[in-house]
Amino acid sequence: MAANSKLARKLQFTVVYIFLQYTLSLILDNKKGGQMESAARIEQSLEAAVDRATAKPCPPKLAKAVHYAVFPGGARVRPTLTLAVAAACGGQANALTDGAAAAIEMLHCASLVHDDLPCFDNASLRRGKPSVHNLYGEPIAVLVGDALIVEAFNTIARTAASDPAKLVDLIECVSKAVGMPGGIVAGQAWESETKIDLIDYHRAKTGSLFVGSVSAGAIAGGSDPSEWHPLGEKIGEAYQLADDLLDATGSIADSDKPLGQDRNNSKPNAVMELGLEKAMKRLKQTIADAADSVPACAGTNELRELIVNQATRLVPAKYATAFA
Ligand code: IPE
Ligand code: IPE
Ligand code: MG
Ligand code: MG
Repeated sequence: MAANSKLARKLQFTVVYIFLQYTLSLILDNKKGGQMESAARIEQSLEAAVDRATAKPCPPKLAKAVHYAVFPGGARVRPTLTLAVAAACGGQANALTDGAAAAIEMLHCASLVHDDLPCFDNASLRRGKPSVHNLYGEPIAVLVGDALIVEAFNTIARTAASDPAKLVDLIECVSKAVGMPGGIVAGQAWESETKIDLIDYHRAKTGSLFVGSVSAGAIAGGSDPSEWHPLGEKIGEAYQLADDLLDATGSIADSDKPLGQDRNNSKPNAVMELGLEKAMKRLKQTIADAADSVPACAGTNELRELIVNQATRLVPAKYATAFA
């Protein structure tokens, strides 16, 4: 178990590290761009949206709880991808791009608040602190999720108003990522079915928002979003596989959220369904597929090479050789 826990932690780091390297390298040609600048832009855009939504006459408890659900953030992986793809497509750092990134993150935060509710995963901890319903009660938590979803679309509407063509495309791609038939809503709804296909479930509950994140970046940058879909799908799949590995084999000391949740709640989990080795093999293959899915842009080859090298280097040697 200790070895498994260490392995899961390394795998989690692998994926997060790849993301960081990925986003950094994508913005290499954006001379002013960089991880710090992206992070600051994301926080600023989120603050503007949350301030507007929680201003008077918002009921104080709802206002506090909405703020609590968004700040401080987690990895902010999805909006970082949005900004990185927009930059790779030659887009400017402007209000529309930042608004799209903030909207994506608000939708992600909403999904976490709802996912933690007793009627879903019943999780008492999120990002190292009490989950929203744990601190503010269930009615407020339901409303926090609702409010963030509405505010996400409001943010897109406000920031893309001067570019109606992009506005329509953004609304369409973001709706698809979070709604039906294959977005987050659908992904969570699979849990109420008797027969669940793991790949379809992961694709909807997690992959869809990653596809939305890269697509929103492409739209903001003036490119064809469909070219970026395969990369979003593969990154989303890898991310949920790593999260399942952490949930199944990690220990609480490694995580800022409760683990063993999938087993406790009888939720599909890649390790429980495939076994540890097959789950790891699938993660490795998915990372390789992600590298192959990078569309033509400045630095495509470097980006591919980087993804594969980082993955190979960080997957523990004894497992890496077994899967070679
Ligand atoms: C958690 O996502 C939900 C999954 C899809 C695994 P993150 O791991 O990106 O959560 P935060 O935003 O960093 O807390
Ligand atoms: C979360 O999946 C996907 C969402 C739509 C929020 P998980 O239930 O595996 O995510 P964690 O482990 O709670 O972060
Ligand atoms: Mg959960
Ligand atoms: Mg999980």
